[in-house]
Amino acid sequence: MSGISFKGRVAIVTGAGGGLGREYSLDLAKRGAKVVVNDLGGTLDGSGGGSSAADKVVAEIKAAGGEAVANYDSVSTMEGGKNIVKTAVDHFGKVDILINNAGILRDRSFLKMTEADWDQVIAVHLRGAFCVTQPAALVMKENNYGRIVLTASTSGIYGNFGQANYGAAKMAQVGFMNVIKQELVKYNIKVNTVAPNADTQMTRGLIPEEIAKKLKPKFNVPMTVYLCSEENQDTGMIFTMSAGWFARTAVVSGEGVCIGDTERDIAAEEVMEQFEKIKSLENARPFPNATEVYALSYPLMV
Ligand code: NAI
Repeated sequence: MSGISFKGRVAIVTGAGGGLGREYSLDLAKRGAKVVVNDLGGTLDGSGGGSSAADKVVAEIKAAGGEAVANYDSVSTMEGGKNIVKTAVDHFGKVDILINNAGILRDRSFLKMTEADWDQVIAVHLRGAFCVTQPAALVMKENNYGRIVLTASTSGIYGNFGQANYGAAKMAQVGFMNVIKQELVKYNIKVNTVAPNADTQMTRGLIPEEIAKKLKPKFNVPMTVYLCSEENQDTGMIFTMSAGWFARTAVVSGEGVCIGDTERDIAAEEVMEQFEKIKSLENARPFPNATEVYALSYPLMV
């Protein structure tokens, strides 16, 4: 097995003061990356804050002989995002790798969810992805190199009770990726998304103890770190992982059914009649962009 090295690379990991972000940072640094450890050090619901979480991880990296610097900005403002990127540029001269990992939870069943629960979760996960990725990508573009990892969740991809805000924000990472992968590929910037699973402060108490102890955060590291490497040439993919299981996840469309002739009206009853065939995912596949999926309707165009 040839080794993956990040010698000469500069990485930003958001929300890296604990949980998965800490594990990613330690491994990147061990492999030679200079790491900006970002974390505002708040509680799970996003309140509070402090420098100690990020500082501790920086100290761990330095104790192991690596290079790192802490940043305490929130990812959820453009000012914060720009400052996180500036920290990398000021200390290490550039940005090659960005792992958008910061996150909070404000779980509540949908009918009881407050506007604040919605807004704050969207602000950290979705706005945060925009606010850090745009300034980072501008620097990556200058160097014609970049690897970006976004963090989704099966909560959004498949659904999880009590997480309408979180699920929406997490699935939105996929939409965000699908667009920016196309815009950034010409600058040699690859963008992929991971859906991890781990026993961290985020999931503590939600997963039965027997299972939780098998969901070590470190088992999410190999996929995320590989996606950050120069060796990874794929872009626009989603990978789901848990306890050492790794799989590609994709948005797919089925072959579908063509009805009508692009002239005559189509009745709801015709859809009803063909509904089983329309619903079928037999031969379903992913598509590289929005245009190509419409090729399935071409039989109607001739
Ligand atoms: P964690 O709670 O241990 O780590 C998240 C970190 O983000 C915390 O240290 C927190 O202080 C930081 N953070 C929160 N808001 C921030 C902000 N505005 N700016 C900067 N930092 C901020 O949780 P964990 O499990 O390590 O989560 C990491 C990522 O993985 C999150 O995006 C989470 O949604 C995602 N995820 C985790 C899963 C799991 O099973 N643990 C499952 C699916 C997704």
